[in-house]
Amino acid sequence: AAPLRIALAGLGTVGGGVIRLLTANGALIARRAGRPIEIVAVSARDRARDRGVDLSPYQWEDDLALLAGRPDVDVVVELIGGSDGPALALARRTLGLGKGLVTANKAMIAHHGMELAGMSEAANDGRGAPLKFEAAVAGGIPVIKGLREGAAANALTRIYGILNGTCNYILSTMEDTGRDFGDVLKEAQALGYAEADPAFDIEGTDAAHKLAILAAIGFGAGVAFDQVEVEGITRIRAADIARADALGYVIRLIGMAECEEGGTRLFQRVQPCLVPRSHPLAAVDGATNAVVAEGNFSGRLLFQGAGAGDGPTASAVVADLIDIARGDTGPPFSVPVAELEQMAAADGATR
Ligand code: NDP
Ligand code: HSE
Repeated sequence: AAPLRIALAGLGTVGGGVIRLLTANGALIARRAGRPIEIVAVSARDRARDRGVDLSPYQWEDDLALLAGRPDVDVVVELIGGSDGPALALARRTLGLGKGLVTANKAMIAHHGMELAGMSEAANDGRGAPLKFEAAVAGGIPVIKGLREGAAANALTRIYGILNGTCNYILSTMEDTGRDFGDVLKEAQALGYAEADPAFDIEGTDAAHKLAILAAIGFGAGVAFDQVEVEGITRIRAADIARADALGYVIRLIGMAECEEGGTRLFQRVQPCLVPRSHPLAAVDGATNAVVAEGNFSGRLLFQGAGAGDGPTASAVVADLIDIARGDTGPPFSVPVAELEQMAAADGATR
């Protein structure tokens, strides 16, 4: 079968991981996808930078609009980051051309997910163009797939968990070693866990981006990032962790989304919480993430695994590419955008 031909925009932690994964597991992936997945072109800012991967088999393209427009590219993989700017322009251009888009960019999906989903569903005269973002939430854990498909038959009441690897790495390392916040943050950056601007991690914004996406998927709603109440971990001191420990608790940054008022109101909050040592989330350490979802027939589901880093995140990106290679054309969220708009209009009319 004809290969799925991709362009890779962004060759940092995740982009490098995608090249290494497709190189190492290419034959296995081709068997599972039903056809090979081939990188044809790549882009980043600095062409001269040594990235520790061989880029010689790929065409280099500085201009992102030209990259998306290449006739030999079926799918663009956006791994640049940032809610707006070049990533958003590339996403709009790709979907506007009717091509598939895979992204790990939770900031962009949290801010512009509904617009991009609308473009994805309308592309190719209504036949659609895939938009996938499994890697945007909880790194290597297939939690979007888990909620969107595995738990699809359930009414969910609550989704909560540890959604930021950097914060969890900082809190659990401070707890285990008594080391200084700033020192451990630097280590998380060196390990490739943190955002380009780590304020997004430690102020809770990154977890809020992910929570808004998960809530939209889990509750069949639109993404409502502006309604997430956010508090990060910047005010947590070693003394707070020691006091919590003495009382039998650990401190974790928890994102929680709940349906209230008979399912008519969505409550979303990110904040540092005291978690009793007996709770499964208390044992989650390092850059691990864990998400709990409570369904009315499934009961409590727990998704756990590496929430950041090159390998796990690349694993989620390539899983999306395999879905596309197999012909998955479902809507990006669990409910098509047109239906969400109708629901919002009907809701508005009854108030
Ligand atoms: P990096 O900062 O490591 O890499 C970003 C890449 O984008 C770099 O290669 C950079 O080029 C390139 N880039 C920046 N601006 C442009 C531009 N204008 N045109 C072309 N390329 C550009 O980021 P990560 O790999 O860590 O993250 C990428 C995305 O994945 C982000 O959205 C992030 O939130 C998300 N993500 C990251 C995870 C992680 O663990 N790191 C986990 C899950 C999601 P150059 O190298 O030349 O500077
Ligand atoms: N900076 C993010 C984190 C990367 O630490 O969780 C994964 O989304």
